[in-house]
Amino acid sequence: MSGRVLVTGGAGFIGSHVADLFVRQGWSVAVLDDLSRGKRENVNPAATLHVLDIRSPDAAALLERQAFDVVVHLAAQMDVRRSVADPAFDASVNVLGTLNLLEALRRSGTAGHTRVVFSSTGGAVYGDLATPPNGETTPKDPDSPYAVAKLAVEHYLSYYARIHGISTVSVRYANVYGPRQDPHGEAGVVAIFCGRILAGEPLTVFGDGQQTRDYVHVGDVADATYRAASVNLDEALHLDDRAFNVGTGIATSVLDLATTLLDAAGVSVPIEFAPKRPGEQQQSFLAVGKAARVLGWSPRISLANGLADTYRWFATRETAAVPSRT
Ligand SMILES: NC(=O)c1ccc[n+]([C@@H]2O[C@H](COP(=O)([O-])OP(=O)(O)OC[C@H]3O[C@@H](n4cnc5c(N)ncnc54)[C@H](O)[C@@H]3O)[C@@H](O)[C@H]2O)c1
Repeated sequence: MSGRVLVTGGAGFIGSHVADLFVRQGWSVAVLDDLSRGKRENVNPAATLHVLDIRSPDAAALLERQAFDVVVHLAAQMDVRRSVADPAFDASVNVLGTLNLLEALRRSGTAGHTRVVFSSTGGAVYGDLATPPNGETTPKDPDSPYAVAKLAVEHYLSYYARIHGISTVSVRYANVYGPRQDPHGEAGVVAIFCGRILAGEPLTVFGDGQQTRDYVHVGDVADATYRAASVNLDEALHLDDRAFNVGTGIATSVLDLATTLLDAAGVSVPIEFAPKRPGEQQQSFLAVGKAARVLGWSPRISLANGLADTYRWFATRETAAVPSRT
């Protein structure tokens, strides 16, 4: 299958990898990004970049005018701490911005032909009350305004699917890491650790370092997102019907992450312990059997290989940033 896809947030970390994959699969790719965090250099040269805010009338007009076969919606305020500090801003981008796009699709008259794939969060939407691994139907008790907004959008998508016939899918990402990642994201620790190793500085681990996350490489995430966009799916009636966890199903402690990254980098810097951070989620990993069954997707990149790939990327960038001596 190929066609016309719009990737919102396509100049960002995950979005740029998703856009690259669609280009490789022969799709005509448009990217919509306001470049607030994304970078022009991340955008695939074969894609058309529209520098627009998802809340703007121009963004709505783009969706209303052009009958995209697929809209992969990744543009977001993605900083959990910022959402706590300013929930209204978070909701204005993550909820109202998304509604601006969905309403444009509804008005377009071609909504029935469009598949919308939305990047939700498996790392945050289930909250800390559930005992992992969390499956798609695990009760949702989001612990941050960011996660509340993601869940609200999932409900809106369910509504647009049932009432307006838009084909919607939510991919609930675990903690995504890889080249081009930003230290502020949900797996920002990998970027932070890479920066520290390259600077020869110690890695700081909070508490006893036994808190776990499900770290999934961005290459695997792009693949899952592509499948979510292109696989035939049953009709959606309930919230979780068209939701897919995208993770590895493996719980990795921060301490294990640090030692695996140091091994991958082949470098030694000390690991320092700092006091536990109040409110930090302790255990989080996802059940990923549904994506395997329905999307035919399973993660293929091991943590050791994925971290090595990520470290190499940061190291190359660092070298490129050092002015040459003449
Ligand atoms: N990184 C993770 O571990 C993770 C986990 C779960 C879900 N997600 C979700 O995946 C998506 C992509 O995240 P990412 O880590 O690539 O973050 P990112 O910040 O690299 O990408 C988001 C992109 O959206 C753009 N953007 C922000 N506000 C915008 C606006 N108002 N209008 C247009 N563009 C705007 C930014 O410029 C950026 O390029 C987000 O929706 C995020 O919530 C990420």
